[in-house]
Amino acid sequence: MTFCFCNPAAQPNDLQTNPIIPITTSKVVKMQTMKSVARIKPRLGLVKRLAPVRLAQQKQTKILNDSVNSIRLDVEGQGAASFLIPRNLDNKPFQFNLSHSINADDKTDLCFSMHNDGTDDYVMFDGQRYDVDKEAIEDGETVSLVHFKAEEQWAWISVDQYHQIVKIGCGNINQASTLWTIQLGEEDFRLEKIDTIYVSNVSPLKAKTEWAPVVYDLPPVVKPQSVISLMDIQNKAAISIETLPAACQELYGMVSGEGITMEPMEVAAIEYSLRTPGCTLFKLLAGKRKHNEFDDPNQVYIRCTLGDHLGNSPGVPYVLEIWPSGCGSPIHNHSGASAIIKVLSGVLDVTWYDPVLAAGKLNDATGSNDKPRQIGNTTTFVKDQVTWMDDNLYGCHRLHNNGLMTCITIQCYQYPEEDRVHYEYFDFIEDTDDKLETKQFYPTSDIDFGDMMEVVKQELDDFEDNKPWLDYRKSQDGLSVVA
Ligand SMILES: [Fe+2]
Repeated sequence: MTFCFCNPAAQPNDLQTNPIIPITTSKVVKMQTMKSVARIKPRLGLVKRLAPVRLAQQKQTKILNDSVNSIRLDVEGQGAASFLIPRNLDNKPFQFNLSHSINADDKTDLCFSMHNDGTDDYVMFDGQRYDVDKEAIEDGETVSLVHFKAEEQWAWISVDQYHQIVKIGCGNINQASTLWTIQLGEEDFRLEKIDTIYVSNVSPLKAKTEWAPVVYDLPPVVKPQSVISLMDIQNKAAISIETLPAACQELYGMVSGEGITMEPMEVAAIEYSLRTPGCTLFKLLAGKRKHNEFDDPNQVYIRCTLGDHLGNSPGVPYVLEIWPSGCGSPIHNHSGASAIIKVLSGVLDVTWYDPVLAAGKLNDATGSNDKPRQIGNTTTFVKDQVTWMDDNLYGCHRLHNNGLMTCITIQCYQYPEEDRVHYEYFDFIEDTDDKLETKQFYPTSDIDFGDMMEVVKQELDDFEDNKPWLDYRKSQDGLSVVA
């Protein structure tokens, strides 16, 4: 029997061991401010105050009632407020207002007025216009707070009185989603007394707030504490698990150990079953392609659940996922859950996006099929590397196996403790010819992990000449071993 490991659609470089490419903001819109953005020196009264470093485990998003247009900050002078605003067909400006509500006589109002001149968004503040740096916007990306293409969109503002900075953005509240960074003068004390943020000239559908201002984002790469290097810290290239939300720490504790791995023979058995007509995974994959879950034959993968549904995650919390070469997922959210993903074999490309809208909503109501904004660069993860997410950062992504061989990952999910809804669906974008609509996907199990391993090992044992597969795993060079 002849085996061919070559996939004409893939590139030889895909088999190389790719180093982690840290997420950068090079693709993310950089801001142009009319004033200097040089880091200010701490003023006398702030010298002893610690900078509000935005650690994920410290911050917490509070979801407020529907139709709220005013938010009280937890900490005077710092924090963020986000409002879900409906699509505005008239390009009507709206305002973010910062005020001091405790003493009416001392009320401080700062108004950031959002406009669109028919082509570009800009902010008016203190009589000055602040433009987005168009050179920093990638071709094909359309980012707007006033004239956006989705049916609705989160628009947020962050107040950071320590650094004297106001940031404005859309999507999730994070640095990568920032559209404007406005630096106030060193002698401008107006941010210190801000305790209320309200939005006017628009009727928000929902609102949420965070006590911490947007300062920087944690990297998506997680490394064990023992191998974190000085350059990882310097370049924000990787973090240790202790920095992440509690739910991520619990999940990482379960799947990061050396014992969570796959033996070469186990990988070979999965590969063999997946590629051999008549075998279990081959038939399972063909059935999923026929069912066409995500309306794209290359958006297909196999989910093997480990254990039971415990009531703390969307679906069963631990899932082994099998990604055939050239296949991937659609762009999707994760029900607000925290998650850890570890690559057990092969390579996996991860790309992050602004969150997709709730099920039934159009992510591009204009019909131009512009996808949500990509956040950062696609990062390639290889065997034993780990990435994370929560609802605020990296919670909307697309996974794809561009390698020649099957990729196998362990994914695990857990709702954060403050989640009282436990929305069970992964919302994903179905990309049709004329619209980008969000649909619901319930993360079911295609096959139990234990059952799967038992059957694929048996299938490989039953094959009388499995030497080519063993040779391949030993050689680590799939192109040279074609029996
Ligand atoms: Fe996912």
